[in-house]
Amino acid sequence: MKNHLADIRKEYLKGHISVEMMPENPLDALKTWVAQAIEAEVEEPTAMSICTVSKDNNPSSRQVLLKEIQSEGLVFYTNYSSRKGQEIENNPNVALNFFWPALERQVRVQCIASKVSAEESDTYFYSRPKTSQVGAIVSNQSSIITSDLDLEAEIERILEGSIEIKRPENWGGYILKPNYFEFWHGRASRVHDRVSYNLENGNWIKNRLSP
Ligand SMILES: Cc1cc2nc3c(=O)[nH]c(=O)nc-3n(C[C@H](O)[C@H](O)[C@H](O)COP(=O)(O)O)c2cc1C
Repeated sequence: MKNHLADIRKEYLKGHISVEMMPENPLDALKTWVAQAIEAEVEEPTAMSICTVSKDNNPSSRQVLLKEIQSEGLVFYTNYSSRKGQEIENNPNVALNFFWPALERQVRVQCIASKVSAEESDTYFYSRPKTSQVGAIVSNQSSIITSDLDLEAEIERILEGSIEIKRPENWGGYILKPNYFEFWHGRASRVHDRVSYNLENGNWIKNRLSP
């Protein structure tokens, strides 16, 4: 069978970036790019892949949803006992990647992860729809399901019962404090624009990278 994958290519013609036009603080740039992705009504504008590393140095990545950009870093929510939670516990260095194909833009970030306060996790947890709250309660995220456990029935049982719905202690947020950013904008003929930011002694240093 002929492999057509090699024939798939497109020209990127939607804009450009430069060191001069990017703001001094990369978090401001990220805020603008996320806002523009939302404005453009792309699918899942806040989705980012987060890559963690296991004890035996095997990296693994999955999508999560960015919930807040604070001055200190990026916040997302998950189960602390999940595979990613265990890997972060062992090694807090994580890598993020955002890709918005419609805008021909990618952002790469390197961060150190730490848990947000229990109060912050509570605030977000109780702001979620009841069904999502219960979903977090019934999911022992990333564990193998050996029985014919019916998670929907479990959710119904809790919603219809008189059990108080509380945030599980092992469910909450992480704040990802960045030390490296790279903003990528697709350009014609594969001569793409790349601007990196390195955190040095508390200051962000910008550079242009070769495509
Ligand atoms: C678009 C998208 C958004 C997701 N958002 C989250 C999220 O915010 N938090 C989360 O724990 N899992 C989220 N997931 C599920 C994760 O990708 C993953 O399957 C789950 O967290 C278990 O990962 P782990 O076993 O590596 O810990 C999302 C999946 C997709 C496709």
